[in-house]
Amino acid sequence: MFSVPIARPRAFSGIQPTADSLHLGNYLGALKQWVELQDSYDCIYSVVDLHALTVGPDPESLRQRVRATAAQFLAAGVDPERSILFVQSEVPQHTQLTWLLNCVTGFGEAGRMTQFKDKAAKLGDQAVTVGLFDYPVLMAADILLYDAELVPVGEDQRQHLELSRTLAARLNSRFGEGAAVVPEALIVKATAKIYDLQEPTAKMSKTGHPSGIIELLDDPKVIAKRIKSAVTDSGAEVTWDPAAKPGVANLLSIYSALTGQPIEQIVDDYQGKLYGHLKSDLAEVVIAALSPFRERTALYLADPGQLDRILSTGAERAEDIADRVYRRIATRFGLGQAERSR
Ligand code: TYM
Repeated sequence: MFSVPIARPRAFSGIQPTADSLHLGNYLGALKQWVELQDSYDCIYSVVDLHALTVGPDPESLRQRVRATAAQFLAAGVDPERSILFVQSEVPQHTQLTWLLNCVTGFGEAGRMTQFKDKAAKLGDQAVTVGLFDYPVLMAADILLYDAELVPVGEDQRQHLELSRTLAARLNSRFGEGAAVVPEALIVKATAKIYDLQEPTAKMSKTGHPSGIIELLDDPKVIAKRIKSAVTDSGAEVTWDPAAKPGVANLLSIYSALTGQPIEQIVDDYQGKLYGHLKSDLAEVVIAALSPFRERTALYLADPGQLDRILSTGAERAEDIADRVYRRIATRFGLGQAERSR
């Protein structure tokens, strides 16, 4: 007997291969949700190497980081039997759809993206590329190309997601309903923004203070040191007060997300104890969670043949969907009158 697969809604998300290791913000803000969503969605996850080009990486390190990032997706629990895992540049429809979306995106609309404005301000006019400006449009293309209904991301991507929704709605109003699916963001409040350990009002980021981030592949000793030297707030009592005590609140959020214990319970457990106790216990929690992850990543990286097979099967499956959706949208634009039979 064959079982007929029941169509499930689709989820799409991506992470840039811009570091050797992902960090705890990427994991708690995005990757953890990716893994959980596999039970209820058809999930498509991508190593978005075209986005990474906007920071001008060294070619060899980009190649290595693409593989290392894919290995970390797998180690976190992305299951290539259930989900599609692929490298963005291997599916050419991403750049093709970006062009179509460029032609319906306002210059001012793209210029209002705060991530662009922040990066452009840091880089200065001479160094800012058109690619960096177009980053959110490529991101919208990623999502619309798979008719994705849900997009699990961290808080910093909210505005980009809004632009994707606006562009999808614009295609529908310009070309008629059914041109594009309007996606929803999935931003889990408790972990939407994990903060830098040294500067707990700034998000943990690849470009932040090196000792302010916990990389998923860090050595346990490094992890323990970073957590123990995390900036905490004045006072010594463990309480939940994100506005007045952002450093302690960040540690509590991480603790809660990794153990599943509610914040109030953790706060109760630390009554009468000092910040130092919380830090050393949290170091153990993080190390226990990340050690198996580090080992699994190493296993995937030690078998390049298997990784290649997973990524090439993923690219084929992704392109199958992307090709159909791209043609549907391109036809609405008036392209493809002389459709060749392929
Ligand atoms: P990237 O690689 O910068 O970030 C990957 C994911 O990690 C989340 N994140 C965080 N979440 C909580 N706290 C933090 N400190 C933190 N830092 C990062 C990000 O929100 C993101 O979910 N533009 C995307 C990549 C992308 C994409 C897409 C995502 C390209 N195309 C299509 C979704 C759908 C990005 O931020 O990558």
